Amino acid sequence: MDYTYERLALALAPRPIEFYPTITSTNDRAMQLLADGVSNGSVVIADEQTHGRGRLGRTWYTPPGVALALSVIILQPPAAYLNQVNMAASLAVYDLLIALNIQQVVVKWSNDVLVNDRKICGILTEAYWDGDKLKGVVLGMGVNVRNEFSDVDLASIATTIEAEIQREVDRVSLLAVLLFHLDKWLALLGNPAILDAYKAKMTMLGKPITVFNRGSSEEIHGVAIDVDTEGALIIEQDSGVQQRIFAGDVTLHKKGT
Ligand code: BTN
Repeated sequence: MDYTYERLALALAPRPIEFYPTITSTNDRAMQLLADGVSNGSVVIADEQTHGRGRLGRTWYTPPGVALALSVIILQPPAAYLNQVNMAASLAVYDLLIALNIQQVVVKWSNDVLVNDRKICGILTEAYWDGDKLKGVVLGMGVNVRNEFSDVDLASIATTIEAEIQREVDRVSLLAVLLFHLDKWLALLGNPAILDAYKAKMTMLGKPITVFNRGSSEEIHGVAIDVDTEGALIIEQDSGVQQRIFAGDVTLHKKGT
C-alpha cells in the first residue's frame, strides 16, 4: 500500500508524526497529544477512521486506502486568528489541487474547498483551552483521494483527486505537498496576505446567499460582502443591516433562486 510509517516519516521529516492504519478519529488522538504536551506541527495520520468527525456533529467516513485523514497540532496561535487557521488549511488544499493541475477550484467560507461545485475536502478545527488560555488548535483535514461515491447520493456533491485528474496518485507525496503549503500559510497568520489570498479564491463575495447560523440557529439571507480579519463573513441583508457570522453553512443562490 502507498501508506507505511517508514515512507511517511521519511517524506515528512523532521516533523513528528504518528501513523495509525486504523483509529477512531485523528482529531481525538491529536487532542489527547495536545493535552499531554507535544511539539508544534506534530501530525496524526490515519489510513482508516472508524469514528471520523465532521462539522456540526456530522460523521466523516474514512474507509481504508482512499483518503487523506490527518490532524495537525498548532500550539498557541493568537486567539484572534483562530478562524485564519481554517483559511490557511483551505489555501493549502487549494495549492495542492492547483499543483496537480486541477481546474475550477474555489474556497467556500468557512472551511470547504470545492472543485466544480463538489466538495473534495473537509476541515474541522478544534481549539484546546486551558481556562481562558488557548493552549493549541487541532486542525483536522480529510481529503478525498479515491473514494467510491458512485453508489450513493454523495456522487453529485463530492469528488476526489483521482476522479479529477484521471490517474493514480501517491498519498504520501500528497501529504508532503499539502503540509509544505500549510506551513507556508500558517506562518502568515495575522498577516493581511492570508486574508487577501483567501478572498481572491472565494466565489461567493457579491452574491446572494443564505447562511444557517449555528450560534443563533437562524437562517440569514443577504449578500456576502466581505470576510474580516477574524474570519467572520459579513452579510448585508435587504434592510441594509450588516451581520458578522463566525460559523455556519452557506448556500449560494443560483440564478433565479
Ligand atoms: C467537515 O464536516 O467538512 C469536516 C470534516 C473533517 C474530517 C477530518 S478527517 C481527519 C480529522 N479527524 C476527524 O475525525 N475529522 C477530521
